Amino acid sequence: MSESLVLTDTQGRVGLITLNRPKALNALNDALMDELGAALLAFDANEDIGAIVITGSEKAFAAGADIGAMKDWTYMDVFGADYITRNWETIRKVRKPVIGAVAGYALGGGCELAMMCDILIAADTAKFGQPEIKIGILPGAGGTQRLPRAVGKAKAMDLVLTARMMDAAEAERAGLVSRVVPADKLMEEAMDAATVIASMSLPAVMMAKEAVNRAYEAPLNDGLLFERRMFHSLFGTHDQKEGMTAFMEKRKPEFRNK
Ligand code: HXC
Repeated sequence: MSESLVLTDTQGRVGLITLNRPKALNALNDALMDELGAALLAFDANEDIGAIVITGSEKAFAAGADIGAMKDWTYMDVFGADYITRNWETIRKVRKPVIGAVAGYALGGGCELAMMCDILIAADTAKFGQPEIKIGILPGAGGTQRLPRAVGKAKAMDLVLTARMMDAAEAERAGLVSRVVPADKLMEEAMDAATVIASMSLPAVMMAKEAVNRAYEAPLNDGLLFERRMFHSLFGTHDQKEGMTAFMEKRKPEFRNK
């Protein structure tokens, strides 16, 4: 049997997914994206899991979609059969928080995959870029849309049109990543953040994720109304009563995730 392109593990209530095509710098092909989607959905459905971390290798989170696989495809292969992009949106169906832990290259589809994570933690070795223009295409999995939302039009145009890479410090300044840490601390930092999130009340976490995402998808009025309704609905949970009671009693809350 061939080796899995995606490895999974759990630590406490955190599900860890490691992209595993190190020799090809985790170039993303359909088989890998299928395995990634299945792993994400399995953790999302597992009630013992409260947050998910996706990472790659020390050298590459992912150096993009697999150029060798794409090279000879025709228009009807990619449009008609929907090769490459058909399973890229699975990560957006995940309702629990997903942290991307990025070391090394996050290029092309690798950068687009990283941008679909809810929180990005970068090693100081991380390099982000959308170099598709160099091979005669453009970013096809959200790069032209998510990058401007994350870093603004000027920097997004610069990266997309010149294909230059942005290092971790620039990515943090630009607002693409939440934290930059020394490479040897990356997994500890990402797993710690995921563990903190997974210790919170799951319904509150899931609704907070949905509400923040609304900020990107809806006009302000709709987003504010959505947030208000989510806020109201949490008063129907056990965990809201427990969280507030525990605060008043100066003790740790015992959440039941309901
Ligand atoms: C296929 C890839 C690859 C990729 C690297 N490899 N990136 N294979 N697709 N995207 C393979 C190389 O062919 C090589 O295989 C091995 O990984 C190591 O790579 P090297 O180039 O030898 O390493 P290095 O010199 O360190 O350079 C690293 C690099 C370079 C700067 C990241 O590999 C690079 O430029 N890669 C392509 C980046 C890119 O253009 N990405 C965008 C792809 S298009 P062998 O067998 O020779 O050892 C895209 C579109 C997304 O992502 C659309 C939405 C789905």
